[in-house]
Amino acid sequence: MIVLGIDIGGSATKGALVNTETGEFLSDKIRFGSKKIQKPKQIIKAIKNIAAELQYDGIIGAGFPGIVKNGVIKTAANLHKDWVGANLAEMIHAETGQKAFILNDADAAGMGEMRFGGDAIRSMDTALFLTIGTGIGSALFVKGHLLQNTELGHMLVNELEAEVYASAAVKRIEQLTWKQWATRFNEVLKTYEFLLNPDIFILGGGVSARFEKYARYLTVETEVVPAKLENRAGIIGAAMAAQENLN
Ligand code: BGC
Repeated sequence: MIVLGIDIGGSATKGALVNTETGEFLSDKIRFGSKKIQKPKQIIKAIKNIAAELQYDGIIGAGFPGIVKNGVIKTAANLHKDWVGANLAEMIHAETGQKAFILNDADAAGMGEMRFGGDAIRSMDTALFLTIGTGIGSALFVKGHLLQNTELGHMLVNELEAEVYASAAVKRIEQLTWKQWATRFNEVLKTYEFLLNPDIFILGGGVSARFEKYARYLTVETEVVPAKLENRAGIIGAAMAAQENLN
């Protein structure tokens, strides 16, 4: 089935048509970015524009960077506070006439990676998928089942929230070298390893494509691998989730 997958991020809303059986993109990735913190109206408009640009008419899956329950946004650490309490599924429906399924962005990306990222990660008892961008998102899988809305990016590491200490945005803003950033990120992994003991860490988001730049600085005992789908995972997982939940 062809489904429009949307990945809402701190700095841009991206979308593409996805073949939910193969995980392939069937269109270009369309991106609406902004330097300003985005309010609901602006993002709903971006989603409508993405659908129009792709001449798409059908169900929509969207990953959102916050806790999501039944289509309603519960937290929005890196977006406008007007998001809290907004029913994103209903808003998309009102704007486009299409049914929408919403889930946390890291949960969406983790689902995409678990399905299409290869057998090695699927065979693990406990897998912790992390997406590193404006924030740090987490998706914890136990025997293939997702524990939703885990929010490990807000766990304290050296008295700071993990994502305030070691997100990709922090690397850019503080102009950290790969070594400096990875040394911080390694502390984040150590904290997660100590408390959760996963069998594997899978790293998604923009930095997944640059794994060779910092892999040597990650000294946790747990195996660490970059996401095979790189930063396409969020869009693919969102489309999959819509197909599974709305049909
Ligand atoms: C949000 C998470 C999200 C992560 C990555 C965090 O600030 O609280 O829900 O998954 O950023 O976007």
